[in-house]
Amino acid sequence: MFSLRLCCLLPLVLLLPSLLDGARILAIFPFPGPSQYINVLPYLKGLASRGHEVTSVNAFPQKKPVKNFRDIVVPEVFQSYDDIISNIEAYRNVWQENTFINDFFISITKKVFENAEVQRELLKPGKAQYDLIIVEALRTDALYGFSAHFNAPIIGLSTFGTDWNVDELVGNTSPISYTPLVTAGLSDHMTYWQRVRNFFETAIAWLNWKLMYIPVQNQLYEQYFPHVAQKKPLAELSKNFSLILLNQHFSLSFPRPYVPNMIEVGGLHISHTPAPLPKEIEEFIQGAGSAGVIYFSLGSNIRSKDLPQERKQMLLKAFASIPQRVLWKFEDDQLPDKPANVFLSKWFPQPDILAHPNVKLFITHGGLLSTIESIHHGKPVLGLPFFYDQFLNVERAKRAGFGLGLDHKEMTTSEFKQTIERLINDPKFSTTAQLMSARYRDQPMSPQETAIWWTEYVLRHKGASHMRVAAQDLSFVAYHSLDVFGMFLVVGILILVTIYVVLKKLLCSLQGQQVSGKDKLKHH
Ligand SMILES: *[C@@H]1O[C@H](CO)[C@@H](O)[C@H](O)[C@H]1NC(C)=O
Repeated sequence: MFSLRLCCLLPLVLLLPSLLDGARILAIFPFPGPSQYINVLPYLKGLASRGHEVTSVNAFPQKKPVKNFRDIVVPEVFQSYDDIISNIEAYRNVWQENTFINDFFISITKKVFENAEVQRELLKPGKAQYDLIIVEALRTDALYGFSAHFNAPIIGLSTFGTDWNVDELVGNTSPISYTPLVTAGLSDHMTYWQRVRNFFETAIAWLNWKLMYIPVQNQLYEQYFPHVAQKKPLAELSKNFSLILLNQHFSLSFPRPYVPNMIEVGGLHISHTPAPLPKEIEEFIQGAGSAGVIYFSLGSNIRSKDLPQERKQMLLKAFASIPQRVLWKFEDDQLPDKPANVFLSKWFPQPDILAHPNVKLFITHGGLLSTIESIHHGKPVLGLPFFYDQFLNVERAKRAGFGLGLDHKEMTTSEFKQTIERLINDPKFSTTAQLMSARYRDQPMSPQETAIWWTEYVLRHKGASHMRVAAQDLSFVAYHSLDVFGMFLVVGILILVTIYVVLKKLLCSLQGQQVSGKDKLKHH
């Protein structure tokens, strides 16, 4: 009895250290814009600090070594980025816009595969082993092949929340009637014509994806993972995600449905303890007195210094005429005619500045990370959107009542100034921002802790496929119950035809009787 128990226990005891041991994690975040990596990095470093060995494929390597954390750098992806920036307004319709975005991601995917270190360290069979793959769930499908290559579960992280495309990875649904496309700049309450537009644009995006994008990604997958591609088609891998982490939260956007393996971790990058500010900035902010300070930054992708000269003059004129002091993230040392109340710097510790009580307003391009930071610190925003989801984020800020938006190309000095004044002087905006902050912060665990907890859940349960919904095993026809509708349609038509035939027969025979009746009358 005792020995029996011991021999049962022994393997368990042997297993324990390996359960507590760190996992080997391969993270693939090759997107060439810095903000997506800024978002995910604290989570990856968090995993490393818990003893997991993290290998990160990215374009922004660590300057100082981090324990348990190793970079595989893919600087080639910046070429894809230069292409997108120079072509940003070259497309004319929705189809072209989609082709353009898809081509960009295909280019990134290729650059990752072509990288020498990726080929040497990851693609060569038998060279390395990983227990978990974490990817940015953003249209680089062939990279999902690493999950088959290493026979490891795969987790997706989506910086922009979910959409029809991310949904497919775990079988989630985003009802078109109240979940607008990320790029459409619409809210969850759409008018009839907005719903028509949302439906149309979603359909175009989906078609472009199926017809133009997926064939190329399939080809890349077969080219770089020939040994697994024969056994598992890419379409199967793309439906087998263990978990999707979404950089979104219902208090930041709007409530919507999720399957159990889709988890909101909006504000993944936010650290909850603001650090003291550099002395010079602290003094500048203190010196503003009760008028307060405005923080102005167009984020890490758009450079204020590249704005047209006339636009810069317009901004400066407005800043010179207000009592507040302004911190402006500006990528040049010189700016002629800079008024005394404007402080320039190429970089600011943004979260710590937004945490400062004397900062009254955030003028932003409306990027998702900036918007989340603003809500976290309860500061109103003036949004000047440039592209992608920025229009949507500014629209949401307006709708929620903690911000206003302007068109940075069209606005005049007086419009800009008046909007600033309204946002600072009308207490409604800061009250709403603080209300949003209180709602956002009221969570059982921080977004980062939540993300790490669920990641380890997937590791503990070997891919946690018990969370996978059955939608992933259904065909398009079965999932949408088209076959059931079809059956009802056929039965309905059969019934109608039967009724028609029977009625016709009946009428005919009635008529026949009448006719023969008349005949009888005539004969009389
Ligand atoms: C799907 O993922 C689970 C868990 O990671 C794994 O066991 C299974 O083999 C995968 N299936 C396919 C078809 O890749």
